[in-house]
Amino acid sequence: MMKGDFMTNSTIRDMAKSTNQNQSENAADELARQQFFMERCCEYVNAFKERMGRLPRACVTTFGCQMNARDSEKLIGILRHVGYEITEDENADFVLYNTCTVRDNANQKVYGRLGELKGYKRKNPEMKIALCGCMMQEPTVIEKIRTSYGFVDLVFGTHNLFRFAELLYTSFTQNGMVIDIWKDTDRIVEDLPVERKYPFKSGINIMFGCNNFCTYCIVPYVRGRERSREPKDILREIERLVADGVVEVMLLGQNVNSYGKNLAQPMTFAQLLQEVEKIEGLRRIRFMTSHPKDLSDELIQVMKESKKICRHLHLPLQAGSTRILRDMNRRYTKEQYLALAEKIRREIPDMALTTDIMVGFPGETEADVEETIDVIRKVQYDNAFTFIYSRRTGTPAAQMEQVPEDVVKRNFDKVLKTVQDTARERVARYQGQVMDALVEEINESDPTLVTGRLSNNTLVHFPGDASLIGQIVAVSLDECHGFYYMGHSV
Ligand code: 5AD
Ligand code: SF4
Repeated sequence: MMKGDFMTNSTIRDMAKSTNQNQSENAADELARQQFFMERCCEYVNAFKERMGRLPRACVTTFGCQMNARDSEKLIGILRHVGYEITEDENADFVLYNTCTVRDNANQKVYGRLGELKGYKRKNPEMKIALCGCMMQEPTVIEKIRTSYGFVDLVFGTHNLFRFAELLYTSFTQNGMVIDIWKDTDRIVEDLPVERKYPFKSGINIMFGCNNFCTYCIVPYVRGRERSREPKDILREIERLVADGVVEVMLLGQNVNSYGKNLAQPMTFAQLLQEVEKIEGLRRIRFMTSHPKDLSDELIQVMKESKKICRHLHLPLQAGSTRILRDMNRRYTKEQYLALAEKIRREIPDMALTTDIMVGFPGETEADVEETIDVIRKVQYDNAFTFIYSRRTGTPAAQMEQVPEDVVKRNFDKVLKTVQDTARERVARYQGQVMDALVEEINESDPTLVTGRLSNNTLVHFPGDASLIGQIVAVSLDECHGFYYMGHSV
């Protein structure tokens, strides 16, 4: 196909302008628009195939959280739909990095790997390199890419993902870097293709953005204000997923406990969970992430009575010192957090608690770190993600006095050891019991084993084959090895 057969760039821009002007434009129009661009992309792929004698290959690399993982499923869905072969090899025809910017090391990794991609592109000049996700919502990043990474073809952020087909097409037809960053909207266009990583489980966005402004965190700046999806759209999406074989869903939001506050007809997260529970055929419900300040008694009761909500709650602590929590703008004290954890343990004794802990926040002393260690010992987490504080430009904490690196490292090691010691004990408490596991995959290192996930999120490896994948199987938890079990099905 000749380039002239494609739609011209000015036409695309005009269409985009008219869409922006017409705020009342409905979802069906946007879907039709994206379908139009998917067809054009198909034509591009067919032309490529004719010319090269093979399909073009696309590689999508995901950094960061579950939200990004879900977004990547949508991006891969479109690429597959328009005819790309999906590969994990970055020496491909289209390479997309879905980036994270919560900590600076993720940013550095992206810059490092872009250097490698440049080498591939030198050998394959037709190769397209694209960047999207949270990092792209930072103006300083865009500036750096524009000036130092001129070989990148397409850059977009977190708010216009639903236009990926259109952006892809624009990058095929336009010379130079295509940059399209939006602020603070989150339209979901239903019915676009999605390729789920697992056929039997799926993430579902229930809300976007965050209003909490923890002083260390860049998320409110890159993901914008908190916006909840309409419950009917969430329920419809889950019903469809269940009809398509999904048995476990993970409801996703930065702060699910404040779900529904900004809806025209407000609804609590606990009420949403009760509606999700009613969906027939759905076996397990998970959610991520809870903010301790917003976790209600109503939610604890709903979890307690539920047959489907998994026995796992991720409850980020961040720090155990009330003074540091105040400087972090977390809006709870050490005592309030401990009381909450105790209440959950009292009401639902088999609930696994996991957490996020940060070490090295500005002004943190050894005495503060001891407070964190005290909370870890008291709560007895099943698992904890421990992070070294990363200074993010534009956040209030970046202006505060930073802790020297060697002190942070020493404190981090101490916290990590405490987490590992307590979690080892805690996870082992079910040794010898039989529990249901959802089989997720063939074990990576031993193909005679499968890997399943318990309701409390612990993994168990046991003899089995691919026919078990997606099934919920009763497994005897024979031997605990730190954070996982070895077992056998019964
Ligand atoms: N530095 C280190 N860790 C951070 N997190 C968020 N912002 C930062 C930062 N600037 C951690 C928090 C959060 C998790 C998703 O990432 O612990 O809960
Ligand atoms: Fe960041 Fe705090 Fe919002 Fe979580 S709750 S995304 S840590 S600002």
